[in-house]
Amino acid sequence: MAKLIVVTGLAILLNVQLGSSYQLMCYYTNWAKNRPTVGSFKPGNIDPCLCTHLIYAFAGMRNNEIINTSEQDLTDYEALNGLKSRNTELKTLLAIGGWNFGSASFSTMVSTPQNRQTFIKSVIKFLRQYKFDGLNLDWQYPGSRGSPPKDKHLFSVLVKEMRKAFEDESTEKNIPRLLLTATVAGVIATIQSGYKIPELSQTLDYIQVMTYNLHDSQDGCTGENSPLYKSPTDSGNNAYLNVDSIITYWKENGAAPEKLIVGFPAYGHTFILSDPSNTGIGAPTVCAGTPGKYTGEGGLWAYYEICTFLNEGATESWDASQEVPYAYQGNQWVGYDNVKSFKMKAQWLKDNKLGGAMVWPLDMDDFTGSFCHQGSFPLTSALKRDLNVRSASCYTSYPGEL
Ligand SMILES: *[C@@H]1O[C@H](CO)[C@@H](O)[C@H](O)[C@H]1NC(C)=O
Repeated sequence: MAKLIVVTGLAILLNVQLGSSYQLMCYYTNWAKNRPTVGSFKPGNIDPCLCTHLIYAFAGMRNNEIINTSEQDLTDYEALNGLKSRNTELKTLLAIGGWNFGSASFSTMVSTPQNRQTFIKSVIKFLRQYKFDGLNLDWQYPGSRGSPPKDKHLFSVLVKEMRKAFEDESTEKNIPRLLLTATVAGVIATIQSGYKIPELSQTLDYIQVMTYNLHDSQDGCTGENSPLYKSPTDSGNNAYLNVDSIITYWKENGAAPEKLIVGFPAYGHTFILSDPSNTGIGAPTVCAGTPGKYTGEGGLWAYYEICTFLNEGATESWDASQEVPYAYQGNQWVGYDNVKSFKMKAQWLKDNKLGGAMVWPLDMDDFTGSFCHQGSFPLTSALKRDLNVRSASCYTSYPGEL
């Protein structure tokens, strides 16, 4: 017992002295549980000490109010928020929107003060009812995909009104304020039509940048999902399709560095090569690669599915200029991230004094460790280590980790 107290005291001391100020925000997707056999991922698969924030994707909207999108959601909300009993510093956010959700409901909701108030009230009620610590706005995108140009301004209006309502609720009830974050675009043209960056930076707790999906099979040639830097062959707009250029753009246009959260993908984009002997970056491709055995979506493999590809004899190549790997076998080609590229990006993130990292999504990391043989959650764990993410409450529970 005395030993445990000493160890715990030491852990708290270490945490104070060495504790990270970086955030590690990890997405949970409510559809991953439907994947076959060992691909099925439920809240119970999440290590409560891995991330600083867990983000539940996605809630929806009906009549300008936030709603759950499946029958299972309420059970999963409870399970996810229940993880906080094993890490009292863990925060949970509910994400609303996503790519498939589109822009139409958001445009209607922001279009009048009444609609915005209806939404904001419903959000506060819903988050408190299910014990979330905040909201992650995932509108893809204000000012794009059918959303009119005026939504750029209205998005800022919504964010300001919501922040004010969160503050008022906190004061009134004397409880911690709900957090407010937004997940935002990485492509410069989409950023320009969607965001008043200085206003968002003042109002949001964090700005999570989707620094991935930067190349895919629609390009007609191979390219990396999330390169850190540009490749020597990139010119014109392509020269901005990399993590460093995107984050620099956000910073130079008014985002506070400490609020910027860099997107780290736990998956790769796949391609079918036109000519299996032409395997480099920019090689011509015919179409998207074949669906993964577990994730079942054309053009995309989870990190653990990429490990199977490598284990079965694919050739792995390191793209030194972009600091990310790619791999190929036959006519299959994948551009992705591994532990090495995550570590290099984590170092770059620290050098640039940014706010932290977000992982999309936890269920595509090798969560069991059985595919890649690098331990469980190898990608997210590499970030946890390199960003020095520690929770005193986790050390109390698991002194052995010291
Ligand atoms: C939300 O959850 C409830 C309770 O499980 C369920 O009855 C309802 O159908 C869900 N809503 C949607 C849109 O799936």
